[in-house]
Amino acid sequence: MKATSRLVRDNIKSLKPCVHGGEVWEAASKIGLRKEEILDFSSSVNPLGPSKKALESIKANLGHIPSYPDSNSTELREAIATQFRGIGKDNVIAGNGSTELIYLFVETFMKKGDVALIPEPTFGEYERAVRRIGEEPKHVKPNPNFQFSPAVFARDLSGAKIVFFCNPNNPTSVLTPPEHLTAIVERALEENAFVFLDEDFLEFVDGEERFSLIGKIRRYPNLFVLRSFTKIFGLTGLRVGYGIASEEIINVLLNAKIPWNVNCLAQAAATAALADKEHLKKTRQLIKDEKAFLMRGLMQIKAFKVFPADANFVFVDVRQSGYTAAELKEKMLREGVLIRDCSSFRGLDEYYIRVAVKTRRENETLLETLKKIVGNDVEASFIT
Ligand SMILES: Cc1ncc(COP(=O)(O)O)c(C=O)c1O
Repeated sequence: MKATSRLVRDNIKSLKPCVHGGEVWEAASKIGLRKEEILDFSSSVNPLGPSKKALESIKANLGHIPSYPDSNSTELREAIATQFRGIGKDNVIAGNGSTELIYLFVETFMKKGDVALIPEPTFGEYERAVRRIGEEPKHVKPNPNFQFSPAVFARDLSGAKIVFFCNPNNPTSVLTPPEHLTAIVERALEENAFVFLDEDFLEFVDGEERFSLIGKIRRYPNLFVLRSFTKIFGLTGLRVGYGIASEEIINVLLNAKIPWNVNCLAQAAATAALADKEHLKKTRQLIKDEKAFLMRGLMQIKAFKVFPADANFVFVDVRQSGYTAAELKEKMLREGVLIRDCSSFRGLDEYYIRVAVKTRRENETLLETLKKIVGNDVEASFIT
């Protein structure tokens, strides 16, 4: 038999995993700590963890483990549909994390030679999904405040098949107004291009309904909106996400997906999590208060440029500190605090970090540790 490396498809040969936040297992073993001893600011998920009702429902469903789960996640999709006006179960697909749906969408709709338009910097799995099927993405650049103008998209959209857009964007925490998004969707429609709109962090935004395009899927047959149970619902390790689009798009994706993609415990927990409005309310209030506290603290560090944050994480330029993001991450880790070095994001240099908003005690520890390392001269700059 030939060497395995010679048998691999060409597009897979150069494929590498994406770098992500939340690599606490690796970080802990690197410095000889247990995972629980690391304060993880690199993964932007609910600092309160999942709803107790979701956890109880996992226990109540343990007896289902010996059977296959419902391959179409019917009950969960029905529960998701009831959250949005004018949406039925047939407008919803559930995935093994929202990441599965990124890959599924690309594999289902991108043909040889098709172009995917991807803003930079943004979540890395869109690009990886496109490369995995052997195609090259085309990138769109933001303005210096990391905002994307619909005019630039309109120009670059010519000939594209899929446009990816993350709102609010990871890692910049920038929210794009709905009128800019609809301008992009309308321009895409003229090109017969899909818009894959990732709203995984939108539930952390105040008045999220005003910013979501879920209510527009009937008007725009080219729109697919992505959501996740990883972020605000905190069901991170269970792996469950969903997408909302026209019945035609969803039907094709349901036919193309792998069977039993969402396990029985994830389906049950996600359904229960949706019903726990109290937990969501508490989470949103905590994020609002703590984001204000964390922003104030970060802005007191003179060497930092802190960007306005629309999501539950803050994006910071640390170049004046004398450290690269990687050096700062390393030093913070030695103190048991994990931050996201953003240099792996396409379009960013080595001087940006991202930190999640967590509870007061944790945020205080983050600020104290940062100040200990880079100094705490007041009078930070705030980019507007
Ligand atoms: C913007 C964005 N979209 C999608 C995902 C994937 O989330 P999951 O697969 O856990 O639902 C992430 C994870 O970090 C993300 O940041």
